[in-house]
Amino acid sequence: MSRVDWDVRGVASPAGVVRVPGDKSISHRAVMLAAIAEGRSDISGFLEGEDCLATMRAFQAMGVSIARRGDQLVVDGVGRDGLQPPAEPLDLGNSGTSMRLLAGLLAGQAFDVTLTGDDSLRRRPMKRVIDPLRLMGAAIAGDDQGRAPLRIGGGARLAGIHYDMPVASAQVASCLLLAGLYASGETVVTEPGVCRDHTERMLQALGAAVTRTGNVVRLAGGQSLQGGAIEVPADISSAAFALVAGAISPDADLVIEAVGINPTRTGVMQILRSMGAAIECRNERMCGGEPVADLHVRGGALSGIDIDPELVPLAIDEFPVLFVAAACAAGTTRLRGAAELRVKESDRLAVMAAGLRAMGVAVTEFEDGIDITGGPLTGARVDSHGDHRVAMAFAIAALRADGPVVIDDCANVATSFPGFETVAGQLGLEVAVRTGTSA
Ligand code: S3P
Repeated sequence: MSRVDWDVRGVASPAGVVRVPGDKSISHRAVMLAAIAEGRSDISGFLEGEDCLATMRAFQAMGVSIARRGDQLVVDGVGRDGLQPPAEPLDLGNSGTSMRLLAGLLAGQAFDVTLTGDDSLRRRPMKRVIDPLRLMGAAIAGDDQGRAPLRIGGGARLAGIHYDMPVASAQVASCLLLAGLYASGETVVTEPGVCRDHTERMLQALGAAVTRTGNVVRLAGGQSLQGGAIEVPADISSAAFALVAGAISPDADLVIEAVGINPTRTGVMQILRSMGAAIECRNERMCGGEPVADLHVRGGALSGIDIDPELVPLAIDEFPVLFVAAACAAGTTRLRGAAELRVKESDRLAVMAAGLRAMGVAVTEFEDGIDITGGPLTGARVDSHGDHRVAMAFAIAALRADGPVVIDDCANVATSFPGFETVAGQLGLEVAVRTGTSA
């Protein structure tokens, strides 16, 4: 497998107008729902990152015609019962979203299917979807530790359940709603904290009745979806790198265009603002059922804060780069209630703590969080452990380091942010890419 390392230097202040790629969560859902809808869907703004391409290829392997036409992805929906058995196990690469959502969508099909992925994905917890899917009547099994490969037996008769989710996970809630489409009766999911609600929004946009009362979501089984135009906004999780680049660079003046600001995703802006960052939403509008704005960020002085644990699910993917903001702030930033970060693409608490320490930052790690005390950053060599968001977070740290930051194992940046190296130029970074072969 080819290996990619980066040498990153900060050379200028972030300035001007940047665009970041389409939202990863929404792109996955767009392909999945369009594939099982009736008729054609035209998806604009689709993220052509490896994770979403893994979802796309999975549906192509199940007989769905999906083609690029101009800057749109055109999906010819096969209807709720039109998927065909794939000839081989579906390889979902690095993508937890693909695996957990597909587990639900495929649990009610007539055919057997196996879901697998790369080393990182095969280490991630899948019992959180296996257990409730079994309660619905699914024939699904992982290995003896509840990890992938997941084998799903066809022909199961699913029945709706009322499920109180033990962790606030949009992937689990979405998995159950997708299984619920194929179940008899009603599927009801109670969320213990706010989760991203893109699945509900898109199900509604494609004609399904899904209702929410507070933290309880309900969907009646047997509903069909109708394809149509689906617009994917820019990903706030990718915009987060630009937001932090702006917030930590004293002379920055940057606009990030057409970013999704769904309130279940804006924890990063709330946290940065409480640290003192100047971030404004301009030109707010709706785009395909999702709120969107141009984000304007200016540099300034940041202060350490105690992060409200209720914001954790709303900023779950942004903590690697928020830790970099904390390392550039005056005083200590404290995060707790974030044990989920240990089971993402890497153990993001341990991996970020190690890299920040290598850069001279004072860090104390806790089982469910971290304390970071801001100070000068030194150039260093850090290991991303193949985690896209860790790699990009350390690239942003180079803006404030006194020398180059050498980041190992950056190939997976292409899972969520293809072209990051180019956008990084607009953020005032020079990224030299070294490729080789890894064991
Ligand atoms: C996602 C939900 C989050 C997030 C992941 C994408 C989604 O995971 O970390 O990157 O698209 O539903 P959890 O819901 O498991 O926290």
